[in-house]
Amino acid sequence: MKPFVFHNPTRLYFGANSLSHLAAEVEKYGKKVLLVYGGGSIKRNGLYDEVMAVLKQCGCSVSEISGVEPNPRLSTVHRGADIIRRDGIEWVLAVGGGSTLDCAKAIAAAAHYEGNFWDCITHKAPIKSALPLGTVLTLAATGSEMNGNSVITNEETVEKLGWWSALVYPAFSILDPKNTATTPKDHTVYGMVDIMSHVFEQYFHHDHNTPVQDGLAEAILRAVVDTAPKLVNDLTNVEHRETILYCGTMALMGILSMGTVGDWANHDMEHAVSAVYDIPHGGGLAILFPNWMNYVLDDNVARFRQFAVNVFGIREDGRTDREIAEEGIKALRSFWNSIGAPSRLADYGIDDSRLDEMAFKAVGDGTRGNFRKLTKEDVVNIYRMSL
Ligand code: NZQ
Ligand code: ZN
Repeated sequence: MKPFVFHNPTRLYFGANSLSHLAAEVEKYGKKVLLVYGGGSIKRNGLYDEVMAVLKQCGCSVSEISGVEPNPRLSTVHRGADIIRRDGIEWVLAVGGGSTLDCAKAIAAAAHYEGNFWDCITHKAPIKSALPLGTVLTLAATGSEMNGNSVITNEETVEKLGWWSALVYPAFSILDPKNTATTPKDHTVYGMVDIMSHVFEQYFHHDHNTPVQDGLAEAILRAVVDTAPKLVNDLTNVEHRETILYCGTMALMGILSMGTVGDWANHDMEHAVSAVYDIPHGGGLAILFPNWMNYVLDDNVARFRQFAVNVFGIREDGRTDREIAEEGIKALRSFWNSIGAPSRLADYGIDDSRLDEMAFKAVGDGTRGNFRKLTKEDVVNIYRMSL
């Protein structure tokens, strides 16, 4: 393990009726609130009415920004920040999936920055402060509910970049599995792929003496592998939703990467694909990750063998470590296929015409990833394996 510092300031309210804690949180942050939400799912499933009822009861004056895109855009961030300045907003409440939460984080910080917030995302200007943020999560996937990450697409430069600030961790997040039960099958599947991918990004490292981190990571992966097939056949089952929701938060709130350095090249490669083709993040990851695994397998066969045995229960049967490891990667691909995830870029109509451009967006002139430092050429190779 490497020395580490851990601090996660988000207060988590998890479980049935956890929306009942919202009123107490309003008391802390003020009556002038900006409500941020997406394309209307919260209006269709009644959550908008529930949240508004609490806010009205608390005497809040509510401004709104809706229509946050899956793969949220910089122009929407600026629109939200303008509303904050116009209406003297005190804090931001995001109700939705990861895109809505990520956009709300950017809005909360952009409101305190006079200029193009892309400067902050690209580290040309520091983020000095942000409004407090609360969230009501409706989709188990990104872990945005309990981390300081956000991913924004600049539609003008055709870039999609992640950024992090200690100032945009949600002050509180409300997670009621019932609020995720209306997520359609495709986004439920993408979410579960994303959750597993977050675990992979942190599990595939070269650090030593991490038995607890390994065990936690493998437990999350096994829980998703066990629950996903049941959930896709019974989408409104609240107990399965609860398991997956908990997995999603645990996967990316920092606990898995204590003392280790994760990889994250697959996220960079996927963000480049969705910057250019606007595909769902989890769909892109399902296509790329097993190909990356095959590409870097020889860097640490023992790690992939451990994954195969501890997550998919691959048996030794007199085979070599490499054969067992390869069996694990095959098992992952078949598992994702079995729940309906895509497996080829062609599934989204993507051909080889823009591979160089995407690879440059992913790595620039340098390298990405830590398990293996990938060059632009490596990334093109992995994209080719994914066609
Ligand atoms: O927009 P609405 O109408 O709300 O519909 C959404 C959207 O169409 C719908 N949905 C969400 N909850 C629902 C629901 N529909 C019915 N019932 C519900 N309860 O699902 C669709 C997808 O939502 P979105 O928020 O885009 O999905 P997700 O949570 O997967 O977020 C994806 C974004 O997060 C970024 C991704 O790159 C992508 O931009 N990521 C953010 C991370 C972070 N902040 O830590 C890490 C991730 O690796 C990821 O990169
Ligand atoms: Zn992700």
